[in-house]
Amino acid sequence: PQQTSPRVEPVIGLIGGSGLYDIAGLEEREWRRVATPWGEPSDALLFGRLAGVRCVFLPRHGRGHPAPPSALNYRANIDALKRAGCTEVISLSAVGSLREDLPPGHFVIVDQFIDRTFAREKSFFGCGCVAHVSMAHPVCARLGDALEEAARGLGLPVARGGTYLVMEGPQFSTKAESELYRSWRCDVIGMTNMPEAKLAREAELCYATVAMVTDFDCWHPEHDAVTVEQVVKVLFANAEKARALVRAVVPGLGAPRGLCPQGCDRALDNAVVTAPEK
Ligand code: ADE
Repeated sequence: PQQTSPRVEPVIGLIGGSGLYDIAGLEEREWRRVATPWGEPSDALLFGRLAGVRCVFLPRHGRGHPAPPSALNYRANIDALKRAGCTEVISLSAVGSLREDLPPGHFVIVDQFIDRTFAREKSFFGCGCVAHVSMAHPVCARLGDALEEAARGLGLPVARGGTYLVMEGPQFSTKAESELYRSWRCDVIGMTNMPEAKLAREAELCYATVAMVTDFDCWHPEHDAVTVEQVVKVLFANAEKARALVRAVVPGLGAPRGLCPQGCDRALDNAVVTAPEK
């Protein structure tokens, strides 16, 4: 019999700050706890439908008592979304800008990361089962295309492509660090997208990030230091735009589709290290 390629019914996972899920038009809303072998996710997951498309929201830092980026259980968060049936994950994250032409309020659909985190569990694989997935292209271009189109349609200030430097925090960078990252031609800096992106790849999820600029970090001659006050002010304005972006992008992602052209959904096919045959 002729082989037909499998059809995927997309379920859209969304990871973001609190308030992202307060989205007009989200129907059949239900908060549900999802247990994982990796421990507790940041919060319960909000299941619902936007324009008929199944969505699952995860508040990255949890509602209520916020957890710092180093303390998040990234493995539990990604695994919970996988267990909830998600096929794609859109990550919305606040970042500082390392470029003059990316002022606060801009959104960057990044396509690369530099992972400078060091105090987080970074893999589902360890003793007993070893796998090395490719991270050469960490972002799903199909999701990136959809996000770019939706953002441009809304007239949001958006850049396509860019490198996100992920730092450990929780302190912001020194000026020397900020300038070093600029010399590496990084575009934005934040604390949350690693190991999230690596784990999404290991979980064979299509993954994309919308980095939302809140500040100029400390390299900028007119912005000598980052302050939480300044970040939070822009954060609220960005959250409104983020909700609009989610409402615009989700309907177009819901149609049944074939396999991911980039192979995000088959990342483990050639990645697992097995014992040599005797
Ligand atoms: N999140 C928002 N702004 C940031 C900055 N300047 N550095 C690191 N993380 C951030």
